[in-house]
Amino acid sequence: MNYIQQDFSVQFSYKVFFTEFLFSLENRLFNDLLESVHEEGIMRKILFVIDENITIHFPKLGEQIDTYFKDNPYVKLVPEKVIVAGGEIAKNEERFLTTIIDAVNEHGIDRHSYIVGIGGGSVLDLTGYAAAISHRGIKLIRVATTVLSQDDSGVGVKNGVNYKGKKNFLGTFVPPFAVFNDYHFLTTLSDRDWVSGISEAIKVALIKDAAFFDWLEQHAEQLANRDKEATQYMIKRCAELHMDHIAGGDPFEFGSSRPLDFGHWSAHKLEQITDFKVLHGEAVAMGIALDTVYSNLVGSLSETETNRVITLLKTIGLPLSHEYMNLTSADDPIFAGLREFQEHLGGRLTIMLLKSIGTGYEVHELDAQLIMKASQILRNAQESPNQQKQPLSC
Ligand SMILES: NC(=O)c1ccc[n+]([C@@H]2O[C@H](COP(=O)([O-])OP(=O)(O)OC[C@H]3O[C@@H](n4cnc5c(N)ncnc54)[C@H](O)[C@@H]3O)[C@@H](O)[C@H]2O)c1
Ligand SMILES: [Zn+2]
Repeated sequence: MNYIQQDFSVQFSYKVFFTEFLFSLENRLFNDLLESVHEEGIMRKILFVIDENITIHFPKLGEQIDTYFKDNPYVKLVPEKVIVAGGEIAKNEERFLTTIIDAVNEHGIDRHSYIVGIGGGSVLDLTGYAAAISHRGIKLIRVATTVLSQDDSGVGVKNGVNYKGKKNFLGTFVPPFAVFNDYHFLTTLSDRDWVSGISEAIKVALIKDAAFFDWLEQHAEQLANRDKEATQYMIKRCAELHMDHIAGGDPFEFGSSRPLDFGHWSAHKLEQITDFKVLHGEAVAMGIALDTVYSNLVGSLSETETNRVITLLKTIGLPLSHEYMNLTSADDPIFAGLREFQEHLGGRLTIMLLKSIGTGYEVHELDAQLIMKASQILRNAQESPNQQKQPLSC
């Protein structure tokens, strides 16, 4: 035998903090985290990358960060902040990636340093990717500022940017150093962005936690009306379910299964073909609706449970359908999403469907005719006032 066997594993561990007013001087959370990892003789730098919309809604943030880290014994703040456009454009246009990498170069940010991303899921995905590929990996701290990034994207291990219009075509799996979910940032979020972040909570409840789904139904109106207590609970429970899944299964997605991408095969394609005018969370809501009704049509999910899902999405204010989700032929561009979904991961096409609320199961092919039928049912459901007691029909 002429080979050398290599085996090792690396332990990853990080905390997601739930807080408010992260950069007020009274809040010592960030400082304490830096202190807890401080090593004598090493002065780490800290570079901030901020979502432009955050700088508009929180014009004093830069100053607060300067004050917070002034004379900090554990880090040396890079005074210039890197500002990148908020929203999907941050992942679509290469210049934003280059801006961050250039700042890493210019300010001598090394692997002992930190890059802190402050923003929505798009800016965090971009910042995480830039951090991961610079010097083969700079420590990333995420400060998530949208419902979606606090309950899903910000707490996980994935980052990435889009390439040739394809979602997350370039990206890596790298756990963050830490995550801060500061509720105060959410207060300036538009209603549309607010609501769209709730779809990931519905998604994870549907595949993992029936009790959480019941809770979401009971609090649907509070969540849509931005009730603080209900939203905080939702974000924390959703983040916990995502993190449990990542740790307990296949964090770097070596297998063919991507359960947390329930409803996403059509969603990613819809985002792309609408030039990202449909938000990720909105597209996910439509994708969830499609795969839920499809589950009913193949006989795995009861009509009552199917109607509960549709009603919850509607009550929250999430869309069920869109002109590009009006599927009438196998040539409709959404269907290319199935192939691209498979291509992204490789291996066998694996799509999650529902057996019941809280329990998913995987299939390896979908019937195009039934998908089209599901899309027509959802077009009708979108128009009708409420689904609860109405039968599903075309
Ligand atoms: N990495 C992952 O595991 C993962 C998981 C799910 C989604 N995602 C990605 O996340 C992205 C969507 O993230 P998102 O829903 O947070 O949207 P987003 O980052 O695109 O932000 C939506 C809009 O809100 C603005 N914004 C951000 N914070 C704000 C605040 N506090 N007040 C006012 N405006 C604010 C942004 O500038 C942007 O215009 C998509 O690219 C999606 O693919 C990644
Ligand atoms: Zn998603």
